Amino acid sequence: MLDSMTLPVVGAPMAGGVSTPALVAAVSGAGGLGMLPGGYLTPEELAAQAVEVRELTDRPFGINLFVPQRLDRAALEQAVTAYRMRLLALARARGAVVPEPFWGDTDHWEDKAELVRVVGASVVSCTFGVPPASRVAEWHEAGLEVHVTVTDPLEAAAAQRAGADVLVLQGAEAGGHRGTFDPSATPNRLDHLGLLAWVGSETSLPLVAAGGVTTSGDTGRALAAGAAAVQVGTALLLSDESGASVTYRAALRDPDLTTRVVTRAFSGRAAGAVRNDFVAMQDDATPAAYPVVDQLTKPLRRAAARQGDVHGIHIWAGTGWRAAQERPAADIVRDLVP
Ligand SMILES: Cc1cc2nc3c(=O)[nH]c(=O)nc-3n(C[C@H](O)[C@H](O)[C@H](O)COP(=O)(O)O)c2cc1C
Repeated sequence: MLDSMTLPVVGAPMAGGVSTPALVAAVSGAGGLGMLPGGYLTPEELAAQAVEVRELTDRPFGINLFVPQRLDRAALEQAVTAYRMRLLALARARGAVVPEPFWGDTDHWEDKAELVRVVGASVVSCTFGVPPASRVAEWHEAGLEVHVTVTDPLEAAAAQRAGADVLVLQGAEAGGHRGTFDPSATPNRLDHLGLLAWVGSETSLPLVAAGGVTTSGDTGRALAAGAAAVQVGTALLLSDESGASVTYRAALRDPDLTTRVVTRAFSGRAAGAVRNDFVAMQDDATPAAYPVVDQLTKPLRRAAARQGDVHGIHIWAGTGWRAAQERPAADIVRDLVP
């Protein structure tokens, strides 16, 4: 819960093994709000991780879910097949296998939306869209505070109509997937300060500012502009408790990787990442078919991570990636507060 925090710092949920239960607990334990990512996990895995967080801290924590989006299979199928062909040679070279495209639900939204009511979380946060108002009402009945990530005033209005308690304003500086509701739209370039000014003039809901926050100065500016708290991901990527792989950590520190872009190359959904050879090769060719593309590229990315190749993994990163530090997460969180 936002009002239970003694420090105005939310630890961003970072799916794919980065936000470990230890990281979530460390952020909450420091007085911030740790967020456990539910994306990509089975309901059983998510439940087990929530139990782990509960064992590590008695402070409030949240769970984050991906709101499923409708995919226009008929419109995208041909482009996905062509993209898969491009991947085959790359996969062979890595000893990886590209699966057949799967167009059904792989993220178990309904089961996880039920589960979050009973695993000890205080907050549920959503990205990629707005949960149905009926679902938000159920979460409220279970005592959960509901956060929704938005990237423009129209999305903010939709989240408010559905009953959100808190809006997470994700600026273009953010690492990882943009939360833009329409997955085929080109994400806007509004930063979190711009969003705070614009959305803040239209709502009285508490606002959490996300994107590019890596110093206490960044936090101070966001709070002065009306944010109730900041949400940080990239600042925690190199923390002791982060589950970022050895290759990911090396990539973030690689002096030859100097450019950050927003790319669909890895998953089909636009995401903030450090540019590497994979982006250079695939960016223009990738259809906006998340999560189908995500599943096609996953075996390649996993193989590249095992092989220590920074040019084959997704290097999710916000604009402040050079400021990420190898320290305990609690220290990082404390130092983010002015
Ligand atoms: C590695 C990584 C994974 C992320 N995964 C998620 C996620 O699972 N759910 C989510 O809502 N946001 C996710 N995000 C976005 C964050 O919630 C947040 O918007 C972003 O980290 C803020 O920008 P910053 O990285 O510059 O701090 C992720 C960000 C990163 C860097």
